[in-house]
Amino acid sequence: MRIILVGPPGAGKGTQAARLVERYGIPHISTGDMLRAAVKAGTALGKEADAYMKAGDLVPDAVVIGMAVERIGEADAQKGFMLDGFPRTRPQAEALDAALSAAGVQLDAVVLIEVDDSLIVERITGRRTDPETKRIYHLKFDPPPAEVADRLVQRKDDTEEACRARLAKYHGETAPIIPFYEDKGLLKRVDGVGSPDAVTERLVAALGG
Ligand code: AP5
Repeated sequence: MRIILVGPPGAGKGTQAARLVERYGIPHISTGDMLRAAVKAGTALGKEADAYMKAGDLVPDAVVIGMAVERIGEADAQKGFMLDGFPRTRPQAEALDAALSAAGVQLDAVVLIEVDDSLIVERITGRRTDPETKRIYHLKFDPPPAEVADRLVQRKDDTEEACRARLAKYHGETAPIIPFYEDKGLLKRVDGVGSPDAVTERLVAALGG
């Protein structure tokens, strides 16, 4: 299965991808995770991306497209993948299309997880991640167990200010890829409000089980 998860920041893409990749046996490819790893490792790419990410801006297409297309070409992604956070501009969507056509493969679905803007800031500012297991928690909606609480970290771009900038980028630059995939007959809309389990059920149903 070749799937793209789209949605605003905090829609639950990372939370749901972690569950779905186990079910479908495909790798989770998150450009946000790849960029954060590059920042942490202090690579040239990470140094370039860091300031954009902290401010809630998009990292330039020229940087992200090469990184994502290379990752999709790796051995574990030949049987399928779940893309999370890529593409998020029209040029990225076109570049992905060209790379998949050149490889002679097609997408199965593009799933849009819909969550109203009014719910996003609370989801983002309450997010904490376990650096050991990578499990995503929320202080209120998905509280961490006491034994991991001390080691949880908060993302640098999970401030209210950066979150609002990311939402504006989503509506200005990422939302235009929705009609692009709708025209290809690939788009499936899923309500992202409700418990994470309820959202997983809707996603599985949208993907055909
Ligand atoms: P990225 O890491 O992709 O961030 P994002 O798209 O803003 O999405 P998030 O990771 O914030 O949210 P999510 O939808 O995964 O939600 P989650 O499951 O964690 O990108 C970060 C940055 O990297 C970008 O701003 C940009 O700078 C750069 N970047 C990345 N890709 C790029 C690209 N292609 N081009 C250019 N730049 C790029 O959930 C959020 C919280 O809500 C959690 O605490 C969770 O526990 C909670 N939650 C989840 N589901 C529910 C639910 N059903 N009910 C209540 N709470 C819930």
